[in-house]
Amino acid sequence: MIPYSQHRIRDEDREAVSKVLHSERLTQGPMVAAFEAGLCAATGAARAVAVSSGTSALQIALQALGVGPGDEVLVPSLTFLATANAVLLAGARPVFVDVASDTLALDPDDLASHLNERTRGAIVVHYAGHVADVDALRARLAADHFLIEDACHALGAVDRGRPVGSRSEVACFSFHPAKHITTGEGGAIVTGSDALADRALRLREHGMERVPGRFQGLGLPSAASAEQSGGWVYEMQTLSGNHRLPDFASALGLSQLSRLEENLAARRRIAQRYVERLAGEDRLVCLAEAPETRSAWHLFPILLDVDRIRGGRAAVYAALHAEGIGVQVHYIPIHLQPYYRARLGTRFGDHPRTEAAYLRLLSLPMFPDLSEAAQDRVVDVLRGTLDRLAR
Ligand SMILES: Cc1ncc(COP(=O)(O)O)c(C=O)c1O
Repeated sequence: MIPYSQHRIRDEDREAVSKVLHSERLTQGPMVAAFEAGLCAATGAARAVAVSSGTSALQIALQALGVGPGDEVLVPSLTFLATANAVLLAGARPVFVDVASDTLALDPDDLASHLNERTRGAIVVHYAGHVADVDALRARLAADHFLIEDACHALGAVDRGRPVGSRSEVACFSFHPAKHITTGEGGAIVTGSDALADRALRLREHGMERVPGRFQGLGLPSAASAEQSGGWVYEMQTLSGNHRLPDFASALGLSQLSRLEENLAARRRIAQRYVERLAGEDRLVCLAEAPETRSAWHLFPILLDVDRIRGGRAAVYAALHAEGIGVQVHYIPIHLQPYYRARLGTRFGDHPRTEAAYLRLLSLPMFPDLSEAAQDRVVDVLRGTLDRLAR
């Protein structure tokens, strides 16, 4: 089987993890800060906070921005569940916005049409690693709205000469094995704001404050006041869970980061080759890089012309899987999920461009170690399948 995605682990990664496993600190040790420094260097952000998943990163970013009950956050529906789930986990309501048919990024005009007095901000997804037009979205939002970049697909993507994350208010990354670098499970928040990063650090650990200068007090009688400022004291000032990333995972992430550029270059080569080899096949469209950006090419989604294919996308998916090609679909629109339909009353017809894209999308295998021979096989089987199913 040629998978749609495959992580890449080298001996130096194993050695980095092994070193931590032989040390005294498996978690809450020095590798977390080292990984965070590496992330700052890679993204150009001033601060990074490593956490246990991309989902946690999104939830913590929202909570650090003060999002809670009564608030609405605009999100795409054509994304992984986590983008909207994080809003619900923060106690707020996700409001789905349609995407543009060509880029599959949030449509700024549709975004503007969903703004109201409950809107606190929006989450934009750099879908498949392609850089969304953050400025166009920002221009539709009010100054006091936030714009979180769900950059889980976009580590290493470049927007007008600068890495995604470097000018973000806040950007969130995932280090799931399908992504550009992996920590097994893991994620990070990057931001230029010290206040936001400090809040994220507290939210990473149960809402605990450890800096005495920020203590609010434990309410002890004055005779016992020394008991609320000793070296052991921590204060819980907000509610959160445990979202820590262990040290051995951080060491893996740091080691992986050293090969980020190499991995991005390999993905770029594979993408260019797909575009060349699929040229002239008018029953599909490849997503293109936006002007003045460099995609991180996390995925290679194509849009099929399903009206010209007997059985539509499902038939192509089945045929490729039968030939050992693990194509995937990214994503089932979140507003169609039973949970969301029941909880928010969303339904088919709400977001026509998202729904139309869903019925056409197919992600071809894309990972740095995809060989040319395997890629040729994907293209040949795909072309043969489209011919066989032609109508
Ligand atoms: C767009 C997007 N956002 C968020 C996430 C959540 O990341 P994680 O799986 O690390 O929790 C993913 C993961 O697949 C994703 O693709």
